[in-house]
Amino acid sequence: MPSALKGKDILHVKDLKLEQISLVLETAARYENVVANGGRLNIMAGKVLATLFFESSIQTRLTFESAMLRLGGNVVSVTDVKASTSGIKGERLYDTGKMIDGYADVAVIRHALEGSAKELADGANVPVINGGDGAGQHPTQALMDLYTIQKEKGRLNNLNVTLAGDLKNGRTVHSLSWLLGKFGPRFYFVSPQELRMPPEITKALCDDGIEVVETSNLEEAAAKSDVLYMTRIQRERFTDEQEYERLKGVYVVNNEFIQNARRGITIMHPLPRLDEIAREVDAYEGSAYFRQAANGVPVRMAIIALVTGCE
Ligand code: NCD
Repeated sequence: MPSALKGKDILHVKDLKLEQISLVLETAARYENVVANGGRLNIMAGKVLATLFFESSIQTRLTFESAMLRLGGNVVSVTDVKASTSGIKGERLYDTGKMIDGYADVAVIRHALEGSAKELADGANVPVINGGDGAGQHPTQALMDLYTIQKEKGRLNNLNVTLAGDLKNGRTVHSLSWLLGKFGPRFYFVSPQELRMPPEITKALCDDGIEVVETSNLEEAAAKSDVLYMTRIQRERFTDEQEYERLKGVYVVNNEFIQNARRGITIMHPLPRLDEIAREVDAYEGSAYFRQAANGVPVRMAIIALVTGCE
């Protein structure tokens, strides 16, 4: 039976059906076991992944490239981050997509403009994966976040989850709230007034019967939450530097904070962190952010193998 994801672009989490999400999580778990037991996968031998990162990235890029190598495939990369659509040559992403077909079997793109992954995908025949488009979406991060929650909590259903920080500009929380919304959570959206979750996302969740509490009080939300997902204030999306300076230190999770939070709370963060989680918190057993980062490899292995039909 062909995979439910074969030939598909991964652009927005809204396009993912429950069975496709389960398939990614199950495949990732299987791959993680193989790699953990010293095994090798060679299912992408002779295939090429193109990584086009026009906006800075360490984790997403390295996990995608590591994932492809662990599947036995190869990687080609655009390393000139200034070569974006508005760059020196003015090349359109649609045309880049047309060319990619000749060079690679699958592509992942990160770009500062919302909708950029879609433009590349419109040109390309090979599957295109959105590795973050501006303040828009980051679907593969949301899938690895789900995978992490499942592993840490043993389930995805009926969890109280706080998403905190820059909910306006953070693409990870945009994707995660759509995706986790399928599993009947109660959400606390914690941010300063200026950085609230886009109203269309909150409204869509409420229309689906999901309980969403919007507040600026992190302590109160954490006292009731199974999972706290912290995010950094997204400096690169601010037009007013003073506004960024005013908001950047608004939430800090430290050991004292953890003591007042719900017992056993899991702390997540897509990374990079700035000051919103103190380093002392790393020793707390519920701090899952580095495990979350490591989970990026098996989850992205699964995504690459499934969309190319190699699984
Ligand atoms: C996130 C991103 O790029 O949106 N990072 C990541 O992919 N791990 C979060 C962030 O940059 O704050």
